[in-house]
Amino acid sequence: MARPKVSIIGAGMTGSTTAHWLAAMELADIVLVDIVEGMPQGKGLDLLEAMPIIGSDVHIQGTNDYADTKDSDIVIITAGLPRKPGMSRDDLLHANAKIVKDVALKAIEQSPNAIFIVLTNPLDVMTYLTWKVTGLPHHRVVGQAGILDSARMRAFVAMELGVSVENVHCYVLGGHGDSMVPLTRHSNVAGVPLNQILPPDRLEAIVERTRKGGGEIVSLLKTGSAFYAPSAALAQMVEAILKDKHLIVPASAYVNGEYGLHDIYFGVPVQLGRQGVEKIIEYDLNEEEMAALRRSAEHVKANIAKLEPYLS
Ligand code: APR
Repeated sequence: MARPKVSIIGAGMTGSTTAHWLAAMELADIVLVDIVEGMPQGKGLDLLEAMPIIGSDVHIQGTNDYADTKDSDIVIITAGLPRKPGMSRDDLLHANAKIVKDVALKAIEQSPNAIFIVLTNPLDVMTYLTWKVTGLPHHRVVGQAGILDSARMRAFVAMELGVSVENVHCYVLGGHGDSMVPLTRHSNVAGVPLNQILPPDRLEAIVERTRKGGGEIVSLLKTGSAFYAPSAALAQMVEAILKDKHLIVPASAYVNGEYGLHDIYFGVPVQLGRQGVEKIIEYDLNEEEMAALRRSAEHVKANIAKLEPYLS
């Protein structure tokens, strides 16, 4: 049986690190595509030469030619500009919309049956754009944000309490930006809700650090944005899809009716399997949580409206 094929468009920091995780997991053959000549070929060959050492029999290829992505099972879009210190993800909208539209159209031509996972920021908006321009059913286009935001919160909680990261379960919903909604009532440590373990001021500090988690890394790196945790999150989504795990994770999915929201890509808990987004899970949210979610949705909606010039 042929191994599954995953194409990663954008072989920069996040794209190439995603390839690294996926190759180590021996999940699929990988094609790395970039607009820069030579770079994806060099990174692909370097990674391929690591396979005998780690004992993984996958093939990795770097290319500038979309023909090499033909019949991919999954296409990941990481092409685009990352943030610089002081920028919000929204500041990237127009520059990245042009790039994402271009690469999504080229990729869908080669792989009309693929599932698309988007990472480029502003995430929810770029995922909406990818869905629109590819014409794919919405369950086959999904964005990565919630696993990353939740992982940041999990890491902070685990450090605060001195427990294993595996015991910490956090759920961050909403748009991937400062308006994201960390759910402290549903998040828990080995089943005990977070708001029963941590004093309100510590919990609020963790929520705030989670919301600004991406910016914290940008201001430290100065020359780019986070890539290890975002790419690990992408690899987990690929695994859930290829292994048909029916894994429930927060991700940016097309919401039309759930949570009282309509026609938006937005961070909600989804079940991921071989068909892509199999369902959206609706949590029982209180009025305060719903209000935060609605505020975040209004923010994303306003940015989706700016896509008008790219949708014709
Ligand atoms: N086609 C293919 N690749 C492109 C194109 C294009 N039209 N335009 C840009 N790229 C490539 C760049 O050449 C670069 O190699 O996209 C890559 C982006 O990589 P980095 O600059 O290293 O950025 P990265 O940190 O990976 O972030 C990529 O993900 O998390 C988001 O906000 C982040 O939008 C950013 C994206």
